[in-house]
Amino acid sequence: MGTDALRGLASCDSKDQLRFITCGSVDDGKSTLIGRLLHDSHMIYEDQLEALARDSVKHGTTGDEIDFALLVDGLEAEREQGITIDVAYRFFTTPRRSFVVADTPGHEQYTRNMATGASNAQLAIILIDARKGVLVQTKRHSFICSLLGIRHVIVAVNKIDLVDYREEVFDRIVGDYMAFASTIGFTSIVPIPISARYGDNITHQSGNTDWYHGPCLLDYLESIDVQSETADLPFRFPVQWVNRPNLDFRGYAGTVASGSVAVGDEIIVAASGRHSRVKQIVTYEGELARAEAGDAVTITLADEIDVGRGDILAKPTERPEVADQFAAHVIWMDQDAMVPGRSYALRIGTQSIASGSITAIKYKIDVNTGARLAARTLNLNEIGFCNITVPLPATFDAYEANRRTGSFVVIDRYTNLTVGAGMIVFPLRRAANIAWQPLSVGKTERAALKHQRPCIVWFTGLSGAGKSTIANLVDQRLFAMSHHTMLLDGDNLRHGLNRDLGFTEADRVENIRRAGEVAKLMLDSGLIVICSFISPYKAERDMVRDLVGDGEFIEVFVDTPIDECLRRDPKGLYAKARSGKIKNFTGIDAPYEAPSAPDVHLKTLGQQPEQLANMVLNCLVTRGIIVLI
Ligand code: ADX
Repeated sequence: MGTDALRGLASCDSKDQLRFITCGSVDDGKSTLIGRLLHDSHMIYEDQLEALARDSVKHGTTGDEIDFALLVDGLEAEREQGITIDVAYRFFTTPRRSFVVADTPGHEQYTRNMATGASNAQLAIILIDARKGVLVQTKRHSFICSLLGIRHVIVAVNKIDLVDYREEVFDRIVGDYMAFASTIGFTSIVPIPISARYGDNITHQSGNTDWYHGPCLLDYLESIDVQSETADLPFRFPVQWVNRPNLDFRGYAGTVASGSVAVGDEIIVAASGRHSRVKQIVTYEGELARAEAGDAVTITLADEIDVGRGDILAKPTERPEVADQFAAHVIWMDQDAMVPGRSYALRIGTQSIASGSITAIKYKIDVNTGARLAARTLNLNEIGFCNITVPLPATFDAYEANRRTGSFVVIDRYTNLTVGAGMIVFPLRRAANIAWQPLSVGKTERAALKHQRPCIVWFTGLSGAGKSTIANLVDQRLFAMSHHTMLLDGDNLRHGLNRDLGFTEADRVENIRRAGEVAKLMLDSGLIVICSFISPYKAERDMVRDLVGDGEFIEVFVDTPIDECLRRDPKGLYAKARSGKIKNFTGIDAPYEAPSAPDVHLKTLGQQPEQLANMVLNCLVTRGIIVLI
């Protein structure tokens, strides 16, 4: 953080603060505008000005004049490319207010950066180049701002000097913008003609635009009432950790996300619905009578009720939603596409959910036009409206009602990287209305009748690796030993249950999800279920493992090198794939992720199928599934 940032922060405390984002395309003059605001609000000091003057001559695009953009485009790399590539936060202060500006890149592929900048902004300045008017990017930025919950917009029609300060140019642009923006739900839209370079209508009314009678930019930023975002909302206290230094003290530590609470107030634990009263509100500086949004406190309760990390404390009359399915807008941020049905970790506030999944993409949104398009996956920077399922009920609000408790991040379970961000739209009641029917005869009874321990033996490997042959032999041997088995084979299921699926990543995920669910039902009926699927993705094999109990999923890796599969080519499919007649063929133009720690690793080269089947049976013996006689 630079020194001006620190100065800005230091002076923020006591004053009202406005957080805003600036959006514009590369050449709209966004950095110049921010530089101008910093300069005119006297946040630039002599030493910085001197450096800036030097840099302007070296890198600038403004001749001998100071290039304000250089003040903002701090990174050397950015200077050299002449573009802004990440979200940068700037701080400045005027006698009336302090400001935090999120400066985000304007070019096409950086939706994720823009979303990051917009997620906690209260207002957006949408920059439009007076010479170019409303562009596709203008619409995209406005749309994302609206989606991210920004309700106040300034349309800064910049470079008005380059169109000779003409009123009709301004009016036409404003007309175009209003026609489009009326559909996306902003509360206020204020257009201002400016020249960031020459300072017109930035800190004072410009004599060059005497036809304009609205506020100048800084005045408006200083005076707009965006109303306190969080203080007036219902009380939400996501518990970060349970503080239990000794048996006499049990406190719940966290930061009040919204609203306020006072000692004596009745509260509930949202997920369990249990009631209590606030006994104390403790901080490092001593006890408080009341805590409000932004306060980091430890709350103790009058009763010993069960509260854990991730629980949300709320008031009984203003409860958040509690559901295990919800609909949300998801912004995808990863190079690898999002695939419905795959499991991802989710974090909703302080709630960590090890395996949630996006069960359906209702549609994706063309951010340039707002159009809704059919989609089976979401690629980097795409936004979809999706249904999401979590294994246990989660506590949340709709994003529109509360940005803190209504947003979540999606995390890759293997790399731990954030791959998406979501904004909850509504809970899906469906799940709540469907209960589990208690069944009197369960897996244990059904298995006991068959005198066996049920399990899933899952064969994975390339097409032609020998999975079906070995699986078939294992099945025969178990059957001969009077075990009750069932064999599920990829090719066979694709003739019926999975007839509608092809071989894209999304379809394969769904193929394995269905196969896994069916295998689980069969497991519950007490069978030894033998499954033979290429199942090329680690994530879905793990998903099936997670569906069933410990030790009930036995992964068998049929490891045959691709060259050998090509040589065998039992169905002639590799030949077709190589000549381009079949697309997405595993091992040719689609990936296979080999298991890193399979329960049985069958290296098939030079081995007979019978020997390999024996290795599987031996594993079943070791695991106590069967007894060899
Ligand atoms: S999986 O990848 O979704 O697990 P599954 O095991 O059900 O695949 O089906 C694989 C079988 O489909 C292969 O054995 C092969 O006979 C056939 N097949 C047809 N097209 C393809 C393809 N593009 N990639 C792999 N297998 C294919």
